[in-house]
Amino acid sequence: MCENFVQERPGREDCPGDIPCGRCRGLCEDLSITTARPEDIPGIHALEQEVEGGHGADQETLRARLRMFPEGFLVARCRDRIAGYLESMIWQGRPFSRFREIQDFPRLHNPAGDELYLIFLAVDPEFRSRGVAGRLLFCLSDVGRKFSLKRIRLVAKEELILFYKANGFEIVRPLPDFHPCESFRPYLMQKHLPENSGAVSD
Ligand SMILES: CC(C)(COP(=O)(O)OP(=O)(O)OC[C@H]1O[C@@H](n2cnc3c(N)ncnc32)[C@H](O)[C@@H]1OP(=O)(O)O)[C@@H](O)C(=O)NCCC(=O)NCCS
Repeated sequence: MCENFVQERPGREDCPGDIPCGRCRGLCEDLSITTARPEDIPGIHALEQEVEGGHGADQETLRARLRMFPEGFLVARCRDRIAGYLESMIWQGRPFSRFREIQDFPRLHNPAGDELYLIFLAVDPEFRSRGVAGRLLFCLSDVGRKFSLKRIRLVAKEELILFYKANGFEIVRPLPDFHPCESFRPYLMQKHLPENSGAVSD
């Protein structure tokens, strides 16, 4: 599990997913990935605002998601700076085509479900291209295994399909009606979490 995970610059054997280890060069040697704490919310909110602008979740929404499933709300820190974060929930996998069908995440969160849904993932622009998001996704797989879940699903912008594929995800189907007013093309993607595959390697 990634609690207080402290990673020195990794070698090939512990490089997350299928990312070539060259991707990990320059990773902060003090990078740690832990579950988020309530006092992290202002910093997470500031990053969410930077990345999402007016579309970003407000602090109360982020707090509600942390209360909903604290084990699935992960933060990457580098020397007390928040380098990135992700939020997730457990649900019983269900078909959907539009964001408004699933946007009330705390209502849909179901600890008895079989699937992790990745709500959002972001990395501070200053920390990008160093494998921080890959490490967060690697740790999310451990969360899924800990809860004996079958898969992780997410909705990806078309431009991030290769990024998610490099992290072990595959396309399930396009979701052309997900955000009818947005210009980007979203895709449902998933990563299977094989049973008994252990808690440390992908
Ligand atoms: C997507 C994101 C989380 C990646 O974080 P990261 O820590 O830089 O990712 P990693 O270092 O693990 O992997 C980087 C690689 O992913 C791919 N990638 C990342 N963002 C990309 C983008 N916008 N378009 C195309 N490829 C991208 C590239 O292959 C990149 O490698 P490169 O920098 O050598 O070109 C980050 O760019 C981000 O926060 N973006 C804004 C928020 C967002 O879109 N979140 C996803 C919601 S579905």
